[in-house]
Amino acid sequence: MSDQIESVLAESRAFPPSDEFRAAARIADPAEYERLHRESIEDPETFWGRVAGELPWLRPFEAVLDWSGAPFARWFTGGQINASHVCLDQHAQGERADKTALVWEGEPGDRRTFTYRELHLEVQRFANVLKARGIGKGDRVAIYMPMIPEAAMAMLACARIGAIHSVVFGGFSSTSLEDRIADGDCCAVITADGGWRRGSVLPLKPAVDEAVANQPGVRTVLCVRRTGQDVAWNTERDVWLHEALEGVADECAPEPMDAEDVLFLLYTSGSTGKPKGIVHTTGGYLVSAYLSTQTVFDLREDDVYWCTADVGWITGHSYIVYGPLANGATMVMYEGAPNAPHEGRFWEICEAHGVTIFYTAPTAIRAFMKWGDEHVEKHDLSKLRLLGTVGEPINPAAWMWYRDKVGGGRCPIVDTWWQTETGSIMLTPLPGVSATKPGSATRPFFGVDAAILDEEGNELPQGKGGLLALRRPWPSMLRGIWGDEQRFRDTYWSRWPAADPPLYFPGDGARTDEDGDFWILGRVDDVLNVSGHRLSTMEIESALVSHDQVVEAAVVPRPDDLTGEAIVAFVIPAQGADDAATLAGALGEHVATEIGKLARPAEVRVTPRLPKTRSGKIMRRLLRAIASGEEITQDTTTLEDPTILDELRANGGH
Ligand code: WT7
Repeated sequence: MSDQIESVLAESRAFPPSDEFRAAARIADPAEYERLHRESIEDPETFWGRVAGELPWLRPFEAVLDWSGAPFARWFTGGQINASHVCLDQHAQGERADKTALVWEGEPGDRRTFTYRELHLEVQRFANVLKARGIGKGDRVAIYMPMIPEAAMAMLACARIGAIHSVVFGGFSSTSLEDRIADGDCCAVITADGGWRRGSVLPLKPAVDEAVANQPGVRTVLCVRRTGQDVAWNTERDVWLHEALEGVADECAPEPMDAEDVLFLLYTSGSTGKPKGIVHTTGGYLVSAYLSTQTVFDLREDDVYWCTADVGWITGHSYIVYGPLANGATMVMYEGAPNAPHEGRFWEICEAHGVTIFYTAPTAIRAFMKWGDEHVEKHDLSKLRLLGTVGEPINPAAWMWYRDKVGGGRCPIVDTWWQTETGSIMLTPLPGVSATKPGSATRPFFGVDAAILDEEGNELPQGKGGLLALRRPWPSMLRGIWGDEQRFRDTYWSRWPAADPPLYFPGDGARTDEDGDFWILGRVDDVLNVSGHRLSTMEIESALVSHDQVVEAAVVPRPDDLTGEAIVAFVIPAQGADDAATLAGALGEHVATEIGKLARPAEVRVTPRLPKTRSGKIMRRLLRAIASGEEITQDTTTLEDPTILDELRANGGH
């Protein structure tokens, strides 16, 4: 097999920043950028030591980096810091006390705003509620919330007392929630009765009840009243936040955390069935989130910043909560769907709050394109000055539409490549200096040493597709997989076994162009990317085979105009199973219940057999070609029974 990845995109447009943008940008001089970047690579200790020095430490760090235990890095050792102190106290007790920290809009149109002083107070009170329930340093707390201010407060309150938060996306099923609660051995869950989504209530508390029914370790379910419907109540375990807040003290001192103490776990999919609890620690994570938010988004004091992600994803951690607040920014948060009650909702919000920086995902941009220009044109978006995208490769047509229709042709677009594991942005333009290109994440961020390698670890020449590798540690890198050191080493650090120190393998293919800009070619492992979210093919397959009418299943991606990739499932039915259409429908529901709606296959193909090698391995690359309706040009000689291909092609999907 060739390890070089075919790249078919030829894109030659480039857009340097306008003079107007450059005139006010934080970093606008290419020579200064080059100098800083060189320093960050050649002398990372000086570079990162200086950046870290801009944060308020509770005790100064003694060393910047210890890589002697690679692949376990230790950053800012000896230092003590608290994430909620960094995000709140320094602003609330300084000149930003009355600056708006958070402007929130609920889907029904309700609004709440918090100054830094107010948010600081809310978080301290929230933290005291957690303490009163016996939650303390090192305990794991699951957060399963709609996009309401209390979601951010819950994270910050955990951080304040040194509890480790594990946010689970509110769109995940109770089974997914339970798996994560069990894996992290959580002692509490913070949730809400429900949230608003497309005009109706998305219930959350019932899913929590199911998830914790067999998790006796969960002694507290702290519930925010958001939607007001009746919920079941276990008086021993369940607590309403508004009741618990009555009479709690206003002050809660931040727990001094060692730089390497765990700040949070966040689960992400890998190429095997079990989600990985990615471990992030405190000091390095904050330093990277702080610097990247400031420089990638060119953040200034009067900006109004809106990242449309959900707090259930890493983007919501680093670029809704920790990065913007560490910088004392004003940020917007929105609860609901982009098309509720109409398809111009996002632009209405941008106009109403004077959003200047807007960060979203390619899948959303493609949906906006489909909904039509008129929704954008109806609104005054003249305050916007910078746009960002994240989550998957963005197709040039969507990029150009974003630039022209949303950005009015004047806003730079930062296409940011990174992962749950990297904690912060790794490849990105810097908007005051980079010439941006539709579809390219351009250059490695400060301190990032990225290269394109072949299977043997040789660096590939420009233009050749290969495996993306990161050759140096960075402050916000993952510190492990919760409870599974071997999997951490195997997944990320073993692609090039001869490398010493080890190289990080993110699982993506990429190439560079003649300017040295990076183009991400997508995942090379068994991971799908649906609407910018990673899903494991194995996880979906195991959900499918857990249905009693399924004997075997194989899941592959096919390209999709809206979601980037769509899920196609090939299933072998059990004897006496329902007809194909009925079974396909039932399986869609089943996967949605087992994992979440996000994982529901776009198409289910019922087939009597699957293509296998003589050793019994399912040949997914063939299924991928069939699912995409492509000609099969690959080698099929290892196929046990070649006639199966025609059979599969003849079987339409449901
Ligand atoms: C995977 C990480 C980082 C937050 C969102 C997803 C893909 C991410 C880009 C981009 C091309 C991208 C990669 C990566 N990806 N951003 N700008 N261009 N691909 O976080 O769920 O950890 O997924 O998303 O394949 O490995 P995640």
